[in-house]
Amino acid sequence: MLTPEQNKTLTQVGKGTPMGELLRCYWMPIAGASEFDELKTKDVKILGEDLVLYKDLSGHFGLIDKNCVHRRADLSAGMVENSGLRCHYHGWLFDAKGHCLEQPYEDTAHPEINSKSRIRIKAYPVQVKGGLIWAYLGESPAPLLADWEPFSWDNGFTQIVISSVPCNWFQCQENSIDPVHFEWMHENWGNRLRTGKAEFGAKHLKIDFKEFEYGFTYHRIKEGFDESDEAWQVGRVCLWPNGFFLGEHFEWRVPIDDENTLSVTWKFTRVPREKEPYHQKSIPTWYGPVFDASGKPIDTHVMNQDFLAWMGQGQIADRSKEQLSASDKGIIMMRKRFFEEIKLLSNKKALKGQITDPQMNKAVKLPMVYGHQVTQSRSIEDIKNHKTLYPFYKSYIFQAGQPSWVMDMASEAFGIEVEEFNGIVKPRES
Ligand code: FES
Ligand SMILES: [Fe+2]
Repeated sequence: MLTPEQNKTLTQVGKGTPMGELLRCYWMPIAGASEFDELKTKDVKILGEDLVLYKDLSGHFGLIDKNCVHRRADLSAGMVENSGLRCHYHGWLFDAKGHCLEQPYEDTAHPEINSKSRIRIKAYPVQVKGGLIWAYLGESPAPLLADWEPFSWDNGFTQIVISSVPCNWFQCQENSIDPVHFEWMHENWGNRLRTGKAEFGAKHLKIDFKEFEYGFTYHRIKEGFDESDEAWQVGRVCLWPNGFFLGEHFEWRVPIDDENTLSVTWKFTRVPREKEPYHQKSIPTWYGPVFDASGKPIDTHVMNQDFLAWMGQGQIADRSKEQLSASDKGIIMMRKRFFEEIKLLSNKKALKGQITDPQMNKAVKLPMVYGHQVTQSRSIEDIKNHKTLYPFYKSYIFQAGQPSWVMDMASEAFGIEVEEFNGIVKPRES
């Protein structure tokens, strides 16, 4: 249980708030680079700040204030140029560093004043990695953008899945260090929805949590397994400060504002041997729905079930009313670390998980349960005969709404026909 004040500390993300300042010390994934095959500009709200992301005509990305510094026009309606974004209202041109490069009327009528040299618009650095566009909203110098090892795996088909979930980011991240929810929500509750039967699956017998440089690991033993299992030996990664890593995919919970979170998934699937060498030309990005046509939260896919649980805790979970228990040991560890890091930040000390040495930032490894399976080369036939692997090729089981054009890309990459996934539970009749 936390005090209402402590709860605010964990959940407020605006500039100047303790958590808002801490999160600004890390790079955040905010969009897929392939979105800009079509788009020129995009509205982006992150950490409570309204911004516009653009790709200029020379192919460089920029992230600047959504509202023009002149008279506040919405720059997402602006025009991209060779270098920067031009406001559609009076033509001021801004570059990705926030400089004003042109002020057409003033430059023509009063060139001697050179007033543009004194104008700055808010601008944040962006980088592309793993097909994602990452932004850094903190003070200079920025740490390095982590080069996680999976970003350089070859022979893979990767897709990026993004959803906007209407609740605070911290309850989403607490889910990254909550092993017991798998048994109950994804297995037992999923089974109840699917079959209506009151049968429960294998229980968790023992869980443990450890801290490491880039986050925490959680470890589990379920009925039928023992301590030799990798789920106990290696553990799954709750990635600091707002990620989750399960080997073949990452999830990030990026705060949009105090009451909304961008769920960003990066999912890798090794292509079959017959398709090697495989070089993916472009990583597709798609947006998954959170609600069905009748306005109910979708409950048929793994991450949709997570979204449903997070939203059910309230837009901002009230931690002054909770009763933590033995299964919450990891959550308690994580909260404690956040409170400690917030203190370190106010003392200007080095922060957890920041990478600043370029030599260290090369294909950085993370613990991976059954990691060899993720990158192992297999034939199409082996995959089709593999009871647990095949469903992951046949359909995207994690989230509802994979568009048919992404299914077509995946089918082509796998040499296996990808079809729509009806869900781990049958859609309920409403
Ligand atoms: S409002 Fe943007 S140039 Fe005038
Ligand atoms: Fe989950």
